[in-house]
Amino acid sequence: MASSRQVPEVAAPVRPDAHPTYPWPLTGASVLGQPVKRVDGPEKVSGRAKYSYDIARPGLLHGRILRSPHAHARITAIDLAAAEKAPGVKAVLAVAEPGKRTMYQGDEVAALAAATEEQARDALRLVKVEYEVLPHVATEALALRPDAPAVFEDGNVREGPAEESGDLAAGFAAAAHTVEETYTTQVQTHVCLETHGCVCEWEGERLTAWVSTQAVHGTREGFAEGLGVPQANVRVITEYMGGGFGSKFGPDVQGIICARLAKLAGAPVKLMLDRKEEHLAGGNRPSSFSKIRAGVAADGTCTAFDAETWGTGGAGVGAGFPLPYIYNFPNRRRRHRDVYTNAGPARAFRAPGHPQGCFATEMLMDELADRIRMDPLQFRLRNLPEEAPNAMWQRYFTIGAEKFGWDKRHPTGDTAPGPIRRGMGCAANRWGGGGRGTRAHVEILPDGGVVVRCGTQDIGTGTRTIVAMVAAETLGLPVEAIRAEIGDSVYPFSGGSGGSTTAAAVTPAIRVTTGKAFDALAARVAPALGVEPAALVASGGRVHVKGDSSKGMSWRDACRRLGTEPVAVDGEWEAGLSASGTSGVQFAEVEVDIETGVTRVTRMLCVQDCGLLIDPLTARSQCYGGIIMGVNWALYEERILDRNTGQMVNPNMEWYLLAGMSDMPRIEVILMNQPERGVIGLGEPPTVSTAAAVANAVANAIGIRIRSLPLSPHQIVSTLMEQARLGGTR
Ligand code: MOS
Repeated sequence: MASSRQVPEVAAPVRPDAHPTYPWPLTGASVLGQPVKRVDGPEKVSGRAKYSYDIARPGLLHGRILRSPHAHARITAIDLAAAEKAPGVKAVLAVAEPGKRTMYQGDEVAALAAATEEQARDALRLVKVEYEVLPHVATEALALRPDAPAVFEDGNVREGPAEESGDLAAGFAAAAHTVEETYTTQVQTHVCLETHGCVCEWEGERLTAWVSTQAVHGTREGFAEGLGVPQANVRVITEYMGGGFGSKFGPDVQGIICARLAKLAGAPVKLMLDRKEEHLAGGNRPSSFSKIRAGVAADGTCTAFDAETWGTGGAGVGAGFPLPYIYNFPNRRRRHRDVYTNAGPARAFRAPGHPQGCFATEMLMDELADRIRMDPLQFRLRNLPEEAPNAMWQRYFTIGAEKFGWDKRHPTGDTAPGPIRRGMGCAANRWGGGGRGTRAHVEILPDGGVVVRCGTQDIGTGTRTIVAMVAAETLGLPVEAIRAEIGDSVYPFSGGSGGSTTAAAVTPAIRVTTGKAFDALAARVAPALGVEPAALVASGGRVHVKGDSSKGMSWRDACRRLGTEPVAVDGEWEAGLSASGTSGVQFAEVEVDIETGVTRVTRMLCVQDCGLLIDPLTARSQCYGGIIMGVNWALYEERILDRNTGQMVNPNMEWYLLAGMSDMPRIEVILMNQPERGVIGLGEPPTVSTAAAVANAVANAIGIRIRSLPLSPHQIVSTLMEQARLGGTR
């Protein structure tokens, strides 16, 4: 699933040709490229939209999971007897067996279903579990000590691949200056607004599951595997879901538990994680540590890069990330280690690895630029790679700098009087965003109605809207005329919505299938007009001869000629309508109060491409969302584990800090349309470069570089105090 996803290193070449049969209308489009509001917006804002959390079934029971309170322990006994007899309880099961180790606080131990949520919570307290508490490791530093307790039998470290190219010694010999620093980023949890979970209902041997998932088909497969039932017996429905960001690709443990409880109880069960469980076990972005030594020649060319990196993805998951990120270092070496800790395992998280690699590299770029007293933007332009054919960073940096007013950036260290210091920073991003392998089914009904079915899902990005838009464009109808049905595994196959692949996988399938559906309609209508079917087109609510809209009939009349037999066709993704490879840049402006340490991001500007823009409104919205998430990671979010207990001290939304509306900057988005490239996804790249740009802006403001996230008031004040103690700022 997410982990096997491919992220191309370099943008794919420009496609020389478009699709031979159903090319995108690069000129004269009536719907594509228009700012269309989400077709399901009214459902969502009115509360009519039903999320998994909202699903109610007759006789619905409520499931809860008992989780280990210990960071590391061995279960010696589980006694379910008292819980079984508790009021309202209909099913109880042990998830772990005596003898098994629990690897982190929140690891699943037992579960039950009861008539009400309160009864389920009460009964959970009656499950008696005996633990032998084992030594744990809560932090990367503790895990790396020679005397550290072992998270796994073979140790706490897995050596990653060593990468090396060029001649490192020659690179450093050519350097006029070197920088040697360590950059670190914290663990961030996904904090999906809708937590993980589902409602499961059996009818005999057939399971229907309403799941908050990014992959209805993948989750069907996961249920079948986890429960040992045929895939044909499982149906997964995700009509609406409240965020996944990479953490929701399958049923997960809680989904399998929910299905088993429902089977045991003979009644439907709802099992949604609460906020604490979500923080502990719902996934996270791994930490990163990048100890880098790098050299720059007197003319501003980067010459050498040597890095040791590590990070933790918790108990058993890696913490890799790309480094150096984007910029050209002709001579380079990098060694990476995954460090295991007794903490909830990482999962794919919006542009996995990229924000970490971007942060370390972009901080370093500013430091190298400072050493040779070059403007950091000019320095970047000098060291960007040349050979990526669609990598437009040079252009975007130039466009963005002009719009943002980069020429007003002062040298590092704002000398303005008073406690408020202002600064600017910038950073670049890249991503793949290609996708393939989606099927669709389209019906044109005798009353003029159009139904499009596709087993993709809308994870909040606007997929339902772009499906309707592409069908509307192809059939010459308004968006409201299309019924887009998605989010159900009974619909034709589409892959998981991860890796920003959805738009590029789905829209070609919709274009091809609605194109075929129109061809079928045209064949039925052409005789009445006395023309060949191929002469007909659909536009402006009419079916008519190409170039002569008077020679034709209304859409309604055309469909009436279908009699009682609708057009119903299947189609699939074909090459020639989508591509891979995005690039973008971001600029940040901040104000730091050096007395309180409070940082405000006042402005962000992003310049971003994603090939052909289907809906500039939803594309823009991805940029807003990515930047908001990036500002949160830069300033606020951090999973904090108590090193003595290994327990998370902030598993809520009070002490796990998240921005409010008033903490958000003014965000300006410049979308670069590249229609000739076809459709490319955009969910991930806009979140990659935000924190790096913000951190560079903070350094520019206060004149001291803070190399670890989050940039909390505490960290800023203590760094400034330390600096003052050492003899003032430079
Ligand atoms: Mo994404 S991290 O592939 O949802």
